[in-house]
Amino acid sequence: MPSGTMSGGDVLELIGQIDRLPTPPVVFSQINRVLTNPQASAYDVAKILAEDPGTSARVLRMANSAYYGLSQPVVSVRQAVVTLGMEAIRSLVLSSSMGDAFKNADLDDEYQDNFWRHSLATASAARVLHGFKLSDQVMRGGEEGFSAGLLHDIGKMILVWQLPEMYARVSSHHDFGVVDDQHVEREVMGVTHGEIGGYLAGRWNLPEALCQAISHHHDLDVPDGENNRLAKVVHVADYLAHWTMDSRPVNQKVVPIMNWDVAAEFGVHEESLADVCSLVMAEFGRSEIFLEMLKG
Ligand SMILES: [Fe+2]
Ligand SMILES: [Fe+2]
Repeated sequence: MPSGTMSGGDVLELIGQIDRLPTPPVVFSQINRVLTNPQASAYDVAKILAEDPGTSARVLRMANSAYYGLSQPVVSVRQAVVTLGMEAIRSLVLSSSMGDAFKNADLDDEYQDNFWRHSLATASAARVLHGFKLSDQVMRGGEEGFSAGLLHDIGKMILVWQLPEMYARVSSHHDFGVVDDQHVEREVMGVTHGEIGGYLAGRWNLPEALCQAISHHHDLDVPDGENNRLAKVVHVADYLAHWTMDSRPVNQKVVPIMNWDVAAEFGVHEESLADVCSLVMAEFGRSEIFLEMLKG
């Protein structure tokens, strides 16, 4: 792996050329394409899933899990789509596809376990924020935040897996763990893990808002509007996830730097942080079944 000074463009170019860049199953891009069409029906979604028995089986198993608490079991994918809604199906297919895309990652189990736990905690926190009345003005759907939360740090996984020498330079930097990771990454590599993840999401043809939210979940450098709102959701959810899952005493917690003004837009303030974190913990506990799919 080349070392020395590289520009951000160089790193993205390098990543673009990696043979083993993960690709999600075909069903993932097909479902995403269909869901961007306002005319799409449950029938269209079910038809795509029918082509992929593995994903269909996982979707059915999840639909019947305690997470959704349905009173009657669903027996077909079409029924699952109609009962849970297309956005929920997107989250399920996304989780299942991420498990597939990263299952050959040459990373130790503990790293992967911690990574997906943090991602799921961020996705759960996004759902909690969506449940707050105040957040109605700042996000459209809970599922969109859930997807963005699951994917927000995929750039880190790519970095650790595909560019280990580069990651070693980042993690041995004297400021690593002291300031927000993105500052050290920018200094060492010229790009941040957010931008690497956003680049990958773009290659997967994910919606623009999702790509922007992944790229800028730390710096929030997204023009005002819909895309900016999703970036804010992930920004606050990420902080809540770190705070909730970190078992160290409060004064020793290492967390990303949160913009409290943005948190306030969701009704999250320093005084209410502990209460919000218990909600996140409860939602994470309920969602833990997603980990099975994420870990492939
Ligand atoms: Fe991050
Ligand atoms: Fe994160």
